[in-house]
Amino acid sequence: MLFRILFGIALAASTTFILKMVLYMGYHKTLWNHRPGKCHIVEGIDYGSEDMQTTKSGLTFITSGVNGGFFSQSYKEYYEKHKVRGRIMLFNMEKPEEGVKELTIIGNKFSYDDFYPHGISVLEDKGKVLLFVVVHRKEQDTVEKFEFLEKTLELKYLKTHTGTLAHVLNDVVATGPETFYATDYFYYRDSRHVLEALFGLHFGHILYYNGSDFTIASEPTYLANGFGLSKNGKFLYVVSSGGQKVMVFKRESNNRLTKVNEIPVDTVPDNLVVDPKTGDLLLGCHPIVFKTAHHLDNPVEPAASQVLMLHMDSNGTNLTGITELFSDDLELYGSTVATLYKNRMLIGTILHKMMYCEVNIL
Ligand SMILES: *[C@@H]1O[C@H](CO)[C@@H](O)[C@H](O)[C@H]1NC(C)=O
Ligand SMILES: *[C@@H]1O[C@H](CO)[C@@H](O)[C@H](O)[C@H]1NC(C)=O
Ligand SMILES: *[C@@H]1O[C@H](CO)[C@@H](O)[C@H](O)[C@H]1NC(C)=O
Repeated sequence: MLFRILFGIALAASTTFILKMVLYMGYHKTLWNHRPGKCHIVEGIDYGSEDMQTTKSGLTFITSGVNGGFFSQSYKEYYEKHKVRGRIMLFNMEKPEEGVKELTIIGNKFSYDDFYPHGISVLEDKGKVLLFVVVHRKEQDTVEKFEFLEKTLELKYLKTHTGTLAHVLNDVVATGPETFYATDYFYYRDSRHVLEALFGLHFGHILYYNGSDFTIASEPTYLANGFGLSKNGKFLYVVSSGGQKVMVFKRESNNRLTKVNEIPVDTVPDNLVVDPKTGDLLLGCHPIVFKTAHHLDNPVEPAASQVLMLHMDSNGTNLTGITELFSDDLELYGSTVATLYKNRMLIGTILHKMMYCEVNIL
């Protein structure tokens, strides 16, 4: 009898697990392609535009060429074969016709060798523009800080932050010239990270760097990915890619984070950008995960792209509605992020191109 009960429980558990997995992978989904206005691929980016952020004057800083230990062998082979490198790019939303430019990083302590940039945060501080970039270095994950030199289109390397709490980082949000939050995406840097993803293990956290040390700032998280500060700075919106949701955290006076809400999105969100005008949330998403998985395995395989805008109430904590701004599986593979400036939008990808769109539907 006991055996039959245990067998029944195991069967139910594994059926639920498989069903959840099938739904997560999106085999059942159909997409209809649409655009918010005229769109075109921006020349000059062929291997990724994973994360981006736009300044008040429309300068958009973009990370290109993400790589790292947790990518598959075939991804790394593709990366080597096409001589992809980690780069920081600039696109001026005021002058979209000028296209995208690479910024040269200067400073003799900086190394391009294993420069695999991922999440980015831009801080405008006393006339300076500072960039904080998550980098998957061979030996460790870091947050590296740069100053933008507009006249020469250079980035001056300033500082590297790392620590034992930084395992596999994903994104960074600057809160001051010396302080920031970062998402710890995976705990394991080796192949055991697959177990975290598969079994929904909450082994990540949001970390806070207070100017000298990292501390754990949140409850444990499951694949905490892109995130951003609310317009009033009181809340932090954090994507859980595995949980298919956006978590809303309140910032306490000591910078600890208390979860106040969760917004399910029924797609796999990647990076999040807060629209500075409205406080709404732009999400780059992977609507059909099994296609994204194929694309990650062999980047010539197509994957779908989707941009959602989550409209938030005046308190900034609750959802009032969702607009799908963009959906495509023909021209742009594997969207990770979108940023808005006036009626202009840029959409980035893992290891594919970058799209520019006019937005006439908001
Ligand atoms: C930062 O955190 C560490 C560890 O909690 C603490 O010892 C240190 O005093 C803090 N520094 C600042 C500037 O708050
Ligand atoms: C906002 O969301 C929270 C958490 O889901 C809920 O408790 C609260 O009632 C909501 N507030 C409003 C005004 O809808
Ligand atoms: C905003 O928060 C206040 C105080 O918690 C609450 O009374 C009010 O209903 C909220 N407004 C909305 C639009 O959720």
